[in-house]
Amino acid sequence: MNPAYSIKETRKADYLQVKRFIELVDNDFYPPLSKRGGGIHERVDACLDTPEANFLVARLEERSVSDPLGGFVGMVGCTINWKSDDTAYINFLATHPDYRNYGISRELCMRLEEKLNEHEFKIIYLCTWSSNPAAMKFYEKMGYYAYSIVLNDRGNGIDTIYYKKKI
Ligand SMILES: CC(C)(COP(=O)(O)OP(=O)(O)OC[C@H]1O[C@@H](n2cnc3c(N)ncnc32)[C@H](O)[C@@H]1OP(=O)(O)O)[C@@H](O)C(=O)NCCC(=O)NCCS
Repeated sequence: MNPAYSIKETRKADYLQVKRFIELVDNDFYPPLSKRGGGIHERVDACLDTPEANFLVARLEERSVSDPLGGFVGMVGCTINWKSDDTAYINFLATHPDYRNYGISRELCMRLEEKLNEHEFKIIYLCTWSSNPAAMKFYEKMGYYAYSIVLNDRGNGIDTIYYKKKI
């Protein structure tokens, strides 16, 4: 049965849950987010509820008070005014490993597109890496197309693939 969840924008008060959620999926990223730039802490500071960035989170309707994630089962992060003031960049996307293939990331991305559309943004950019077929399949299914590839950008023969979508 599909989990019941709702989608909302995160607030500064969600800091701990956002950080814990990113830590949960850290090793699904290549390289892990904790090993990039300022690590997870700086990422959350830069992307949580700022004038230019925020997350949309899918949160279970029924959640245990003892759940350290506060019921977070999926999250998409977006930075606006990316290449120009009508473009945006998806800086994070993941679904909780126990809740994948229920359409949660699809719903998060559709909701994000609706919000960006309302504010007249025209293009969403993002990137992924070549050893992540789930993400490539996902983004292609969502209507993104690969417009640039940087070979071996991440070492070990792993390429960075840049995608974009007109909305
Ligand atoms: C990629 C990811 C975000 C997909 O999240 P999800 O909530 O499981 O995806 P959805 O259930 O919304 O899937 C939507 C579509 O994506 C495709 N898809 C999702 N997971 C897939 C997989 N493992 N293999 C192939 N296609 C997949 C399917 O086409 C699916 O549509 P369908 O169900 O009609 O076939 C999830 O696997 C994840 O969190 N991965 C680890 C983090 C990551 O790689 N993030 C992206 C970094 S750029």
